[in-house]
Amino acid sequence: MKVKTPGRINIIGEHTDYNDGYVLPFAVSKFVELKLEYSDKFLIYSKNLNEIIEINEIKKTNSWADYIIGVIYVMTKKGYDIPPLRIDLDSTIPIGAGLSSSAALEVAASYGISEFLNLNIPKIEIVKISREAEVDFVGVRCGIMDQFASTFGKKDHAIFLDTLTLKYEYIPLKLREYEIFVIDSNVKHELSSSEYNKRREECEAVLKTLHKKSFRQVSFDDLRKLDGILLKRAKHVLEENERVLKVKKSLEINDFKMVGKLLYESHQSLRDLYEVSCEETDYIVDYLRENEGVLGARMVGGGFGGGVIVLGNRGSLEKIKEDLKEKYYEKFSKIPEFYSLETSDGVSIIL
Ligand code: GLA
Repeated sequence: MKVKTPGRINIIGEHTDYNDGYVLPFAVSKFVELKLEYSDKFLIYSKNLNEIIEINEIKKTNSWADYIIGVIYVMTKKGYDIPPLRIDLDSTIPIGAGLSSSAALEVAASYGISEFLNLNIPKIEIVKISREAEVDFVGVRCGIMDQFASTFGKKDHAIFLDTLTLKYEYIPLKLREYEIFVIDSNVKHELSSSEYNKRREECEAVLKTLHKKSFRQVSFDDLRKLDGILLKRAKHVLEENERVLKVKKSLEINDFKMVGKLLYESHQSLRDLYEVSCEETDYIVDYLRENEGVLGARMVGGGFGGGVIVLGNRGSLEKIKEDLKEKYYEKFSKIPEFYSLETSDGVSIIL
């Protein structure tokens, strides 16, 4: 059996998903494919790396395999009996570009195992198992957005998700004379997962200070009771949620100029208030600001490197590519990568 799972990009709503906020991602047409078959030993094989790993016990390997082993760990803990399997992995999702290859792998593993063994686990449970693998096994206390988008994505649509209730709505995404692409800065700063977990703790400290259980109960008025880092973090979360609602509305009336403006605002907030951007992604966004064909851009994902999502006039990517490559290389001695993005459906069995 083969299962195919898309990566995702988040249009807006960054660092809101673990704060009971709103997000607006879409599944992208870059995929992880897993082939599952019965075997006498538990084996996982990566075609991309030409590496095979035998799993004798459920423990961390600090490698790509942990996203699959983590799923097996969570499913076993939940009482599912998983016999030895051979799982072959093939992926076209670039790693570290902000397209969430890891969540796609987790969803592919949990959905694939569930369907292969006829466990018929509902999709929303697949999302939760996949996220738990990341939190409890891999050790990043991520929110639910990535796994949700890889599972529930829909072609020609973005997903407006309320992470408090898990209610969602498909928003038509017809780009017409525009395009969305991602620029991978090709840097991943060491501290990204520790700083990510630190942001979560800071947000928990906000709630504790305000004696609230959920960020959804925090109002702009409450900001007066905060200062320093906690004020900055809380302000980002509240304003970012507002921006998600505004982008949703703008997409509904095809006001892409407004979407672009809000992307730039989001970046500024992630840079100055949430402090998760870095010199390289700031440089890319500043470069794009000077470019007429670009409507808006911002860093995506956890931060400290990774990708920048760009909304531009159709053809803008081709126009800026070479020049940006050259300038970026001059400054950072690295070459950025460019990926055009199309929407896609969520996880599915392909044969
Ligand atoms: C990572 C996490 C997501 C989300 C983003 C930031 O991609 O996996 O759950 O928190 O960072 O918005």
